[in-house]
Amino acid sequence: MSMSESKPESWSEKSAPRDVLTSSGSFTSPLIELRLRVNGSERSCLVHPMARLLDVLRESLALPGTKEGCGEGECGACAVLLNGELVCSCLVPALQTMGASVTTIEGVAPSPATLDRVQQAFIECGGAQCGICTPGMIIAAKALLARHPRPTEEQVREGLAGNLCRCTGYTKIFTSVLRACTDEASGSRGGQD
Ligand code: FES
Ligand code: FES
Repeated sequence: MSMSESKPESWSEKSAPRDVLTSSGSFTSPLIELRLRVNGSERSCLVHPMARLLDVLRESLALPGTKEGCGEGECGACAVLLNGELVCSCLVPALQTMGASVTTIEGVAPSPATLDRVQQAFIECGGAQCGICTPGMIIAAKALLARHPRPTEEQVREGLAGNLCRCTGYTKIFTSVLRACTDEASGSRGGQD
């Protein structure tokens, strides 16, 4: 089987892992079944041993809400929760998530008809402009609010320090997160933090 024939269609040219040179000198693309829980649902797919969690989410599992910016762990656009911890999915080997629980931006809202209160606050406060950074910002905010349900502005700034935005100047993003913690915040309040 040639390299092109062995590459799953779901891998983009940019992200496709390279085949492995074996001890016998031949190339092979061993695909391994990955099983994990994503946004509360059991999912499985075949992945290359060097596939990134980011690519598996976006391409194999059809969850494009998680974005790729730098691809190097610097921008936070690819942020997801892995067993409740904030991670850059561009840096996580997919197979390291075997059996783990992953939450992406698609899993934040409590229902298709109801936004999470952080999402709602971003809308109300103008926290999103082009939107590329927004999923990562909201995921990082969820991680922050799980630790600090009523964060100070300084804690918000620290909690989102790993997420870059080229549009907003950050002020409206910080305001959005603080707004989500107020008693007046709309959106779901149950089980989201
Ligand atoms: S794309 Fe992962 S940190 Fe930038
Ligand atoms: S809204 Fe455009 S990068 Fe943040």
